[in-house]
Amino acid sequence: MQSDLEKENAAQAAVELVVPGMIIGLGTGSTAACAVHAIGRRVKEGLCVQAVPTSAQTAALAEQYGIPLLSIGAAGTIDLTIDGADEFTESLHLVKGGGGALLKEKIVAVKSRRVVIITDASKRVAALGKFWVPVEVVPDAAAYVMRQLAVPGALRQKDGQPFVTEQGNHIIDADFGLIQDAPELDRWLNNIVGVVEHGLFVGIASSVIMGEGSGVRIFES
Ligand code: A5P
Repeated sequence: MQSDLEKENAAQAAVELVVPGMIIGLGTGSTAACAVHAIGRRVKEGLCVQAVPTSAQTAALAEQYGIPLLSIGAAGTIDLTIDGADEFTESLHLVKGGGGALLKEKIVAVKSRRVVIITDASKRVAALGKFWVPVEVVPDAAAYVMRQLAVPGALRQKDGQPFVTEQGNHIIDADFGLIQDAPELDRWLNNIVGVVEHGLFVGIASSVIMGEGSGVRIFES
């Protein structure tokens, strides 16, 4: 598939930024997994790095390659994080959290000197919002938060039950329509009691490497 090639090319370009001795943040999702495979191959060839995974799924993949891991709490400043996104704009605003790992992804990202987002070309949008924004909530506050959001939304489900994040929270996927002012929505969501975190990443990405056809295109702040 074209998108698979684009993900792979974006991941390869990002992994070229990895140098020995770095602490690397490893994102979650199919595109981030391409980067983990590429870093893992280099580690098997002798590259010395440490990595901070953003999910149990990513940790398990990294362990298959013997990539030395640090927990988020144990890691100090992270040199470079490579992660995917569900949508991005040329302003480097993102929606993330389709895989449910948004809380750890955001913590790892803000602890990072440089955050490189890797995507295929389908993730580029003029305005965020077609992909519903994941809002991670304390389970007991889910109904309250849903009322405060006052937009169409759904409590994310898995196997007929509410999806539970690695931190034991639930996720509301919220339809804000096309988002005209992502920074304002970011601030507003942060002020709702019961919201643990949300999938709008504003002012966090340093660059986006987007696979396009057989090459890559780079968007920078
Ligand atoms: C995981 O929680 C997400 O933030 C992912 O980064 C996002 O869903 C992108 O995933 P894909 O690379 O699989 O599209």
